[in-house]
Amino acid sequence: MNMLDTILGAGEQHTVKVELDDRSYPIHIGAGLLNEAPGLIREAFGNVRCIIITDSHLSSIYAQKLHANMARLGLCKDEPLVIPAGEQAKTFSYLSFILDHLFQKTIDRKTMLVALGGGVMGDLVGFAASIALRGIDFIQIPTTLLAQVDSSVGGKTAINSPRGKNLIGAFHQPRMVIADVDTLKTLPSRELRSGYAEVVKYGLISNPEFFDWLDEKGKNLLAGKTEKQIRAIKTSCEMKAAIVAQDERESTGKRALLNLGHTFGHAFELMANYDASLLHGEAVAIGMAKAFELSTRLGLCPERDTQRVKEHLKSVNLPISIQGRNWDTDKILAHMYRDKKAENGHLNFILTRGIGQAFVQEHVVASDVKAVLDMP
Ligand code: NAD
Ligand code: GLY
Repeated sequence: MNMLDTILGAGEQHTVKVELDDRSYPIHIGAGLLNEAPGLIREAFGNVRCIIITDSHLSSIYAQKLHANMARLGLCKDEPLVIPAGEQAKTFSYLSFILDHLFQKTIDRKTMLVALGGGVMGDLVGFAASIALRGIDFIQIPTTLLAQVDSSVGGKTAINSPRGKNLIGAFHQPRMVIADVDTLKTLPSRELRSGYAEVVKYGLISNPEFFDWLDEKGKNLLAGKTEKQIRAIKTSCEMKAAIVAQDERESTGKRALLNLGHTFGHAFELMANYDASLLHGEAVAIGMAKAFELSTRLGLCPERDTQRVKEHLKSVNLPISIQGRNWDTDKILAHMYRDKKAENGHLNFILTRGIGQAFVQEHVVASDVKAVLDMP
């Protein structure tokens, strides 16, 4: 019996596979997996040299113990590299800081990076891995709900530009994802809710039954019920893995659906200077409410679906409007024209015909977008 069989026999643990030919990889999901991570890594990759990169909040809570366990198996001789926590680390300065550290440690093409943390660590470390020595391997160990259901899967890596979110990056798939739901126990509740917005997104895109389930059980998930968290993470990862397998580089429009709420959301994050007054998932929650309002305004989506989505987001204390933020809507629109989905000066959005029926809409008119930005 191999290490994975042992773990899978231990109860609520699952493996979802991202099928990408020779770049396929497993997403291990379950409680207590952080302790199993060194064994999983050694079983899959042998005696590889790993360097853990984490953020300042996680260094003492998880990184030191993970490092010690990996060192015991001979996988980790270098101390973890620690980056200041928060979105503002997704910059050229920290990218360069990481690369400099790696070269100072004389890495080679077989060295593997371990991104331990939320989406910020995953995006930043993944991008560093994509360009160090023209590309080295990395593993994602996501510790936020957002990272466990979304950012650790699918190989999008990036830093922000002062002119826009995630504008500088690369597609670089991880070799393995290890999502330990137990780590969510130390996650602040606001961060848990922020990640929950990306969970809701999967229901809204194409899985109305999942949205119904979240409408009923979402509060239990947010209250910390492990089995509900595992089910939501597994469903989200299965949906994301299937989409990524069909459209890895967002070239057919399928993967673009995962950006529901994000054209709005990314512009809001930039308006907030990527600071802690607006978390990524909060921006996405407002963005999803706006995408539904826009769809209803354009006669595409029944008003009752839009109301239901807004009620659900409100019921879990996620924001649904930008009222009170005093933002200039012309500026928000200008940011949207730099979104990666905009083409030839036209605004493209993920809109919807109802809960679970998202699609790509080209050439959306700016005045309609402005009108929904003003809605409470
Ligand atoms: P984050 O990485 O900043 O983590 C949120 C906060 O929680 C940080 O302060 C972190 O230190 C702390 N934290 C993380 N895990 C913890 C734990 N277990 N216990 C206690 N504290 C913990 O933010 P995030 O919400 O995870 O990720 C947001 C980022 O993800 C954004 O930059 C967004 O653009 C990116 N993203 C990327 C993709 C993708 O496909 N690559 C998808 C969605 C979002
Ligand atoms: N989070 C959007 C994507 O991975 O495509």
